[in-house]
Amino acid sequence: MNLPTHVKLVEVGPRDGLQNEKQTVPAAVKIELVHRLQAAGLKEIEVTSFVSPKWVPQMADNAEVMAGIARHSGVRYSVLTPNMKGFEAALASRPDEIVVFGAASEAFSQKNINCSISESIDRFAPVVQAARAAGIYVRGAMSCTVGCPYEGDIAPARVSYLAGLMKGIGVQHVGVADTIGVGTPLKVQRAMEAALQHYDINDVSGHFHDTYGQALANTLACLQLGVWQFDASVAGLGGCPYAKGATGNVATEDVVYLLHGMGIDTGIDLDKLIDAGQFISDFLGRPTNSRAGKAIYTKRGASDVRC
Ligand code: HMG
Ligand code: MG
Repeated sequence: MNLPTHVKLVEVGPRDGLQNEKQTVPAAVKIELVHRLQAAGLKEIEVTSFVSPKWVPQMADNAEVMAGIARHSGVRYSVLTPNMKGFEAALASRPDEIVVFGAASEAFSQKNINCSISESIDRFAPVVQAARAAGIYVRGAMSCTVGCPYEGDIAPARVSYLAGLMKGIGVQHVGVADTIGVGTPLKVQRAMEAALQHYDINDVSGHFHDTYGQALANTLACLQLGVWQFDASVAGLGGCPYAKGATGNVATEDVVYLLHGMGIDTGIDLDKLIDAGQFISDFLGRPTNSRAGKAIYTKRGASDVRC
């Protein structure tokens, strides 16, 4: 066991969490969500994506959302940029970090960004170069590192191949994503180790969707490898428009509860985070997907009654 003493959580709720919502979430609600997340102590927030509004209509208000955020110093605001058009549009919003997103599976690459893995790298290369020249940090998301909705199981060698390509074009950090949440701890460790063939332990993160209820176990498995950076989504929001049936990322509240319970520091105020989760769940008109969020919120109500 090689557990870290501090974990950095990247909150992806405003982007990954909301991108698949059918009802339009107004920019003002997204902005308020970001404000609540940063008030809860999140230091990195994935705010939106500069993708085609025809493909992902929910993110069409990207510039408006970025412009409306009252930024906190010390918080890193990231956005997804799949190509130069997206990057050029994002520049005016002054992101601290951009995310290029590829896939370990050819079929998913085609469905998600309409090109092969190799073509995606050709598209990302000038984006990475321009971002780094502008002093913007570059993260790479690697989808379907364990399983793909179209190809089934994905071998670790595919992950290593993609991580090597990302490294080759200058991507500074890679996220190992279980897009459809099919992974189990040992499989996820193999995928992470494949990324670690090309990236240092300080330059990798886990991004686990919770479709099969494995995301916390997968998080723990990666903590045991020494990984200390993870994406998570408040209230467990989300899904990917190009991975039918996939649910949201692991809920940030649940990861924080796990980590604090293990004596691992996150810098996050769980109570304020639960309030943020409740805020967006109320707006969406459904209960939170966070187990810890639900339990603590219910307990608060019970103690109010006793008072
Ligand atoms: P394309 O159709 O191949 O692009 O889409 P194109 O270059 O041929 O251009 C076609 C049209 O799109 C043109 O407009 C372009 O201007 C426009 P038209 O002339 O027809 O009016 N266009 C754009 N508009 C706005 N922003 C842009 C942009 N680029 C082209 N950046 C593209 C390629 C990548 C744009 C498209 O496939 C797309 O937008 N896909 C969306 C993918 C997406 O957002 N998926 C969800 C995020 S990834 C994810 O959730 C996984 C992750 O969480 C990790 C995990 O869990 O696995 C990160
Ligand atoms: Mg995702």
